[in-house]
Amino acid sequence: MEFRVNKVAADKQRTSCVVVGIFESRRLSPSAQAIDDASGGELAKLVRRFGMQGSTGDTLALNNLSDITPERVLLVGCGKRGTIPASQYKRLLTAGMQKLSEGGAKDATVCLAELQVEDRDVYWKIRQNVEAVRDSVYRFDQLKSDASSIKLPKLRRVVCAIASQRDKSRAEEGMRHGIGISDGVDLAKDLGNLPGNICTPTYLATRARQMARSHKSIKVRVLGEAEMKRLGMGALLSVSRGSQEPARLITLEYRGSPARKRPAVLIGKGVTFDSGGISIKPAAQMDEMKFDMCGAASVMGAVKMAASLALPVNLVGIVAATENLPGGAASKPGDIFTSMSGQSVEVLNTDAEGRLVLCDALTYASRFEPDVVVDVATLTGACVIALGAQAAGLFGNNDRLADALLRAGEFSHDRAWRLPLWDEYGEALKSNFADLANVGGREAGAITAACFLSRFAADYRWAHLDIAGVAWRGGKGKGATGRPVRLLSQFLLDRAGRKRVS
Ligand code: BES
Ligand code: MN
Ligand code: ZN
Repeated sequence: MEFRVNKVAADKQRTSCVVVGIFESRRLSPSAQAIDDASGGELAKLVRRFGMQGSTGDTLALNNLSDITPERVLLVGCGKRGTIPASQYKRLLTAGMQKLSEGGAKDATVCLAELQVEDRDVYWKIRQNVEAVRDSVYRFDQLKSDASSIKLPKLRRVVCAIASQRDKSRAEEGMRHGIGISDGVDLAKDLGNLPGNICTPTYLATRARQMARSHKSIKVRVLGEAEMKRLGMGALLSVSRGSQEPARLITLEYRGSPARKRPAVLIGKGVTFDSGGISIKPAAQMDEMKFDMCGAASVMGAVKMAASLALPVNLVGIVAATENLPGGAASKPGDIFTSMSGQSVEVLNTDAEGRLVLCDALTYASRFEPDVVVDVATLTGACVIALGAQAAGLFGNNDRLADALLRAGEFSHDRAWRLPLWDEYGEALKSNFADLANVGGREAGAITAACFLSRFAADYRWAHLDIAGVAWRGGKGKGATGRPVRLLSQFLLDRAGRKRVS
């Protein structure tokens, strides 16, 4: 996919499809007006004839308008005229780009950056344009033998129109970042969508090594079970016991800043399939537990983004990868293991495996002398109940870090919402036989899981993102969303010191 930014005249653009906005009560955007003028009022007439209202996300494709150069015009409803909220802009872009990529055009000119968006500048708008296009063309068909049956000519070239030449350099930066972020999002989606029999811990390590080959700024190290045992990672290894697939602890180090700068460490839960183990899950929708490595996928996506944009940050990605299966050697409810931190853990439920995997990765993170540590995990069903698919659950021991992540999520529209981590919640993790139990009760399940993690993250500024509700969609359009790569990318862009408007 090729992108360009340019000031264009919508009616004179040589393109298969020009995309323009229309507001409620059929008020035309500047570019729609230009086309209407050139076609002698034809556009407005057809809009009336087809009864298009201009509500947010409505679309209407018009062919063969007279006296204009584009072969086709795609109108996108923009809602109430005037300055619109960022969320509305995002919604109309998603709808418009979906329609565009379904339409079979090979190239297009998108004139939607001329709309005014609350608290957002041209950088943000162009970046959203690029991300929406890339989102709309994403397919996961590598495992279908007859991919040709769904082949439309693919959208290949997109021009993002800007209103003024003065905006060009900011717009081009937005485009460049949009491409880098989308590369990270696509990687996270691909890894998430791959089935558990292909995407194993070993496979994740292979993909990480590939990243290091194509980006000289990334160094990868993979620890096997023997090394993890030497390090005392009894909690992580208790999870892989039931599986034939060996666990892997993968680190991806990206250095874009002087070595003395302490890195941000991102830790991803990489459970490549979560059956629940001996505390086995019910059969319904168990296939979705191949997505239990989406935290790892998003960390790999964020590292890829940072490397391809050559961001001036130091970053370490840690992927804790294992399967969680029952078996003769599997851990059993009541078993007690000693974590790398020295704390012993009573495994009351083998399905609460994410925190066991993460706690050793959190201890391991200390050796990188981190400035901040953020772990990302599809950790609890309780978080899905609390926040649904809109926001990731955010927890942490440092307000500045938590605020930075909230703001990054807001700006990139990949949102998170903070939940409390008060000491009192930790009471639920008391064990009669070990330092702590791996589950609390039914109440506040997302919080008690985060409390468990906090016991291993006391030595540095730390935050935890529970992405169980946002990392994939279930149902008909089942698939990985690539979240929260956009949030993490924005967080890293902010650390890299990019100035922004809000
Ligand atoms: N991977 C799951 C969390 C999950 C469940 C994500 C459903 C998305 C949808 C995690 O390992 C798990 O099984 N958590 C248990 C914890 C419980 C046993 C305390 C849960 O949430 O049910
Ligand atoms: Mn589980
Ligand atoms: Zn899990």
